[in-house]
Amino acid sequence: MTAKTIVAPSVLSADFSRLGDEIEAVVRAGADWIHLDVMDGHFVPNITFGPAIVKSVRDRTDKVFDCHLMIDPCDPFLKAFADAGCDIITVHAEATKHLDRSLQAIRDLGKRAGVSLNPSTPENVIEYVLDRLDLVLLMTVNPGFGGQAFFPAVVEKVARVKALIGSRPIDIEIDGGVTPQTAPLVAAAGANVLVAGSAVFKGGSEMHYRENIQAIRTASDGAGRAAA
Ligand code: DX5
Ligand code: ZN
Repeated sequence: MTAKTIVAPSVLSADFSRLGDEIEAVVRAGADWIHLDVMDGHFVPNITFGPAIVKSVRDRTDKVFDCHLMIDPCDPFLKAFADAGCDIITVHAEATKHLDRSLQAIRDLGKRAGVSLNPSTPENVIEYVLDRLDLVLLMTVNPGFGGQAFFPAVVEKVARVKALIGSRPIDIEIDGGVTPQTAPLVAAAGANVLVAGSAVFKGGSEMHYRENIQAIRTASDGAGRAAA
């Protein structure tokens, strides 16, 4: 496996009144991707933002926009998020009746297709869509809010997903409760993309963001190398 972990700060923990500036700050501080949590108040008990907001900040960075759709239905909105400038579009397996169709629709829009699984969703739902999948996002909290505690049971699931993926070029991303303490657990199990909201944005300044990202990176790269 590659030792270098991709760190994807979730703007859910940013100051939304200064979203563009926060994205620029976190990129200067070392973010690899920008993780965008889209919530609909129906699939998850919270509402965030839609494609217009994504589009409004797209020109603040060239970094990958990693869009995590927590919306049901998802299919009617895929094109809007693609047009807004998302590079990766991830849908929840629990929020689409036809996962295969949703993933193919994302690929047809020229974007990388991801599937997210809630902590209680078994990993075998990805087994028959591996040929149209670029990323698996494993939730380590129940989606809807930042700042929740990491579910340790998902660590074993990471290893099972890694085995299912084999040598295919599919990223394994972890989302929820990622900190310098929990990052090594999932990196050692095979995750190569770590989303972190509260653990990155705590402190509220670019200097803090840099220290926070570095702490996650150091902890996870060490574990990833040990596992490789
Ligand atoms: C939760 C979101 C996460 C969230 C993570 O539903 O998908 O991306 O922002 O926040 P932390 O890192 O604070 O758990
Ligand atoms: Zn997310």
